[in-house]
Amino acid sequence: MKRDLQIDSATVVLGIETSCDETAAALVMGGNDVLSSVVASQLDIHARFGGVVPEIASRAHLESITPVIDEALTKSGLGFDRVDAVAATVGPGLIGALLVGVSAAKALALTLGVPFVGVNHLEAHLYAALLDDPNVEFPMLVLLVSGGHTMLVEVRRPGDYKIVGQTRDDAAGEAFDKVARFLNLGYPGGPVIDKLAKTGDAQAVDFPRAMLNDGLDVSFSGLKTAVINYVRKNKTAKTSDIVASFQSAVVDVLVAKTMRAAIDLGARTIAIGGGVAANSLLRAEISRSCESQDFRLVLPSMAMCTDNAAMIASAGWHRLNLSGGSRMDVGAYPNMGLSVEMA
Ligand code: KG4
Ligand code: ZN
Repeated sequence: MKRDLQIDSATVVLGIETSCDETAAALVMGGNDVLSSVVASQLDIHARFGGVVPEIASRAHLESITPVIDEALTKSGLGFDRVDAVAATVGPGLIGALLVGVSAAKALALTLGVPFVGVNHLEAHLYAALLDDPNVEFPMLVLLVSGGHTMLVEVRRPGDYKIVGQTRDDAAGEAFDKVARFLNLGYPGGPVIDKLAKTGDAQAVDFPRAMLNDGLDVSFSGLKTAVINYVRKNKTAKTSDIVASFQSAVVDVLVAKTMRAAIDLGARTIAIGGGVAANSLLRAEISRSCESQDFRLVLPSMAMCTDNAAMIASAGWHRLNLSGGSRMDVGAYPNMGLSVEMA
């Protein structure tokens, strides 16, 4: 190692994220001071296929990774000599995509003589909320809603998590993407539906709110089927009304479950994270509920909701602080759960 690493507010972590269709790099100092955050999206490349094509994603990451890291360094105003550790997402995600970021991070860490830190992508989404608002009170209840995951997580303190509820089938973002695909609205579905729903009537169709009063788990596959059946039977229904009604059903369930979990667990703070946390109705409804029920809400900026490397660098800083760097034989784990165990 270059030096005995003291983890403190001056420690600079270079974060790298390549788990899905975003190649991202960021420099973060002290766990929450974002010096730069660069995201190269592959959305345009995958949109014509209606979803992410793993092999194409890996190739695109390979092409972008070096320029994206260079840009993150240039924007931070720092040189490689100021990088104290290199963190990369090791899972969950697409194996070929993950390996690009993990290999780049290990190579850089070895060259610079600094620790490599393997980061869990889901854990990083939890830290994204803290990046915008580092002084939260614990316990915190986080609603993590992305394309691949939907979970309610109790965060007792950094590094100490418990999943208290999750989806039994489709993730919330997956439901947005599948409904949009069925309606020929393009990929990814979330942003398109969010925009189109603003012009529709959310009361037009009374779609089911599955498991609304039943525990903290959620289920969205029945809702997706209900939308498909409704559209098949009502060929002249307005698409804007359908997506507004669909979105309202998703948001009703997410907000109700989040509030119930926060009350049950005695949480002080509620935070949301993941791509679906960019949804304007979810943001408005959860803000309203937190205000009326006196919870402190951490609402990350849009850029911190969707995949980025600042959250990876931040999670890397916390992991270094808690347990030091990772071993160099840590690999890539496509199905990694939200766990604090890692070599
Ligand atoms: O966290 P993320 O960027 O990637 C994953 O780790 O999955 O989340 C992507 C997901 C996609 O399913 C996309 O449709 C959804 O987030 N999404 C949205 C919005 N923006 C992105 N869903 C609803 N409303 C949005 N505004
Ligand atoms: Zn994500």
